[in-house]
Amino acid sequence: MNLKDLVIRARTCRRFKGDRRLSSDTLAELVDYARLSASARNKQVLRFITVADVDTCEALNSLVVMGGSLTPEQRAGKHQHPGGFIVIAGPENMDDFAIMDVGIAAQSINLAACEAGLGCCMIGAVKKNEAAALLQLPEELSIRLVLALGEPDEVRRVVERRPDGSLTYYRDENDEHCVPKITLEESVIMKK
Ligand SMILES: Cc1cc2nc3c(=O)[nH]c(=O)nc-3n(C[C@H](O)[C@H](O)[C@H](O)COP(=O)(O)O)c2cc1C
Repeated sequence: MNLKDLVIRARTCRRFKGDRRLSSDTLAELVDYARLSASARNKQVLRFITVADVDTCEALNSLVVMGGSLTPEQRAGKHQHPGGFIVIAGPENMDDFAIMDVGIAAQSINLAACEAGLGCCMIGAVKKNEAAALLQLPEELSIRLVLALGEPDEVRRVVERRPDGSLTYYRDENDEHCVPKITLEESVIMKK
């Protein structure tokens, strides 16, 4: 798969084959892509927690919101929970540049997961204090982003902006997950 295809395919996944567990080793291999990614001033302040234990995964899953714009029926069913999580944590005093590291790390993991046939959901909607307590996160770190991972149990695809102009993701009549993206013409606003 070339890089463009990978980027197109690496759509957010929110329904997983819940019985396909991810091992700590598999999750750590994905973290390696983040470790090797760009970092502001190369400070590399981020740290990662891999969560493979099924009970801890279930507990963490109850502290996140996946698919806030979907109806409850369109979200993951009981047997579609993630096969593992990677939690991205960083120190309290992260400046704007350091915060950018979080997105870069997340996308590296997302792309690596996609290449490996896995799906990923970056999750900002997490009860951070409760999740930190669950994971017994060291006090000097706070949770920046949670990544749910696993074998996809849904079809996702890029579509055009909706006729009403909305960019909200939705499920179509076949229960496929549709992600409207703006056009390249809309993206590039100036060519000097
Ligand atoms: C920083 C960040 C935070 C996100 N937080 C959530 C979240 O809390 N829950 C969720 O279901 N999706 C979350 N997403 C996924 C976005 O909803 C998703 O990227 C968007 O709908 C576009 O879909 P795509 O990733 O397939 O392009 C987040 C994405 C990013 C980049």
